Amino acid sequence: MDKLIVTGGATLKGSINISGSKNASLPILAATILAEDSCIIRRVPDVSDTNYMIQILNKLGVHVERSSGTVRTNPENIISEAPYDLVRKMRASICIMGPLLARTGRAKVSLPGGCVIGDRPIDLHIKGLEALGATVEMEGGDITLTAPEGGLVGATINMRGKSGPTVLGTDNVMMAATLAKGTTVIESAACEPEVIDLADFLNSIGAKITGAGTRTITIEGVERLGGIEHHVIADRIEGGTFMIAGVMASEGITLNRVSRNELKSVEKVLLDAGHIVEFNEAGDSVYVAPGKDPKGFQIITEPYPGFPTDMQAQFSALAVITPGISVIEDTVFPQRFMHCAEMKRMGADMQVDNGQAVIKGGKPLSGAPVMASDLRASAALVLAGLCADGDTHISRLYHIDRGYEHIDEKLLQLGAKVARVRE
Ligand code: UD1
Repeated sequence: MDKLIVTGGATLKGSINISGSKNASLPILAATILAEDSCIIRRVPDVSDTNYMIQILNKLGVHVERSSGTVRTNPENIISEAPYDLVRKMRASICIMGPLLARTGRAKVSLPGGCVIGDRPIDLHIKGLEALGATVEMEGGDITLTAPEGGLVGATINMRGKSGPTVLGTDNVMMAATLAKGTTVIESAACEPEVIDLADFLNSIGAKITGAGTRTITIEGVERLGGIEHHVIADRIEGGTFMIAGVMASEGITLNRVSRNELKSVEKVLLDAGHIVEFNEAGDSVYVAPGKDPKGFQIITEPYPGFPTDMQAQFSALAVITPGISVIEDTVFPQRFMHCAEMKRMGADMQVDNGQAVIKGGKPLSGAPVMASDLRASAALVLAGLCADGDTHISRLYHIDRGYEHIDEKLLQLGAKVARVRE
């Protein structure tokens, strides 16, 4: 297992390119199950989650080749049973359920367990696929969905759960509905940019989807889907994470290949906290630098276009070094505060209660051995380490490798002092 040693105090400078989006790549890769011809997907980040998805596709009968950021898929004899040993490694593998069901009439997938960011149910995914006519059986930790004799049939489905819409649930139903008979209307759909990117991909292989990016998505079922070349959108969470690195540990850095539209809520909080954020006219490059008089801030996570839960932990790291009081509330995953206990070991003053962290910032941090608990929590620990006095040893680095492409190399490129070592 690898760990990352971050030596605090270096001043970052220069520029880097932001990678393609992990969260857009995963459902788009899963959607190639639906295609009858080959697809070329570009800008797929080289992270372990996309690697797991590619392995799952290979086992399901999609021939996949990967070179650099380009993935070529060629669906051959698709089988409907996903291998447990691969599926269990990544919760997002649940998004193969919709395409498998639509393409083969059956999908057998292991149920994802809970994870450190809380209980993560899939009731809405199941509700949506049942509404299209699927029958559902659960046995031995597996879920088996079966389409009716004549195939899935379009329906009107409300995907709202108690914490708002579901992203991968919306994706699953949208993918299944592309090959259903008639029209499907998804109400209370997730509006995330990754849902739009998936719909763009599906439309380019022949689907008829309108309304992606709004709360109502309409899908007219078609007979078959073909193949295409697609470029995945920029990773707004990686972009946001490096924006925070820019205000925490630099005199100014530039991030290229971003998309301003998708970073608005992050930009707003950084500006409110007194920092400098300057996008170019095209909105695809941003300069970030620390402000002269930073102040505490307030965040409430919400479904897009609200503030993303996937940026909450990284902003907690910023709050810890910012004078004044910051309040961070996570309404999407209220249990997602594991990083706080680790940051306290570095000297952070933070109280977590009932889905909310109150942070008294501005105290110096000191390097310590800390443990990554999930993907974004590990990014927060790296950010804290950049500003701490001495060395921070972050173990369980596999969490960060799930979703940040070559993070140590990008940090080195910016002048950070980091080293990846074997534990
Ligand atoms: C996706 C993202 C993840 C992000 C999350 C919320 C990917 C691969 N992952 O995960 O990085 O943190 O969106 O923005 O894109 N819920 C239910 N029932 C369900 C499904 C979800 O109650 O059937 C609840 C969840 O517990 C949570 C909320 O809905 O409170 C949103 O979760 P959801 O949007 O489904 O997250 P994912 O799509 O799994």
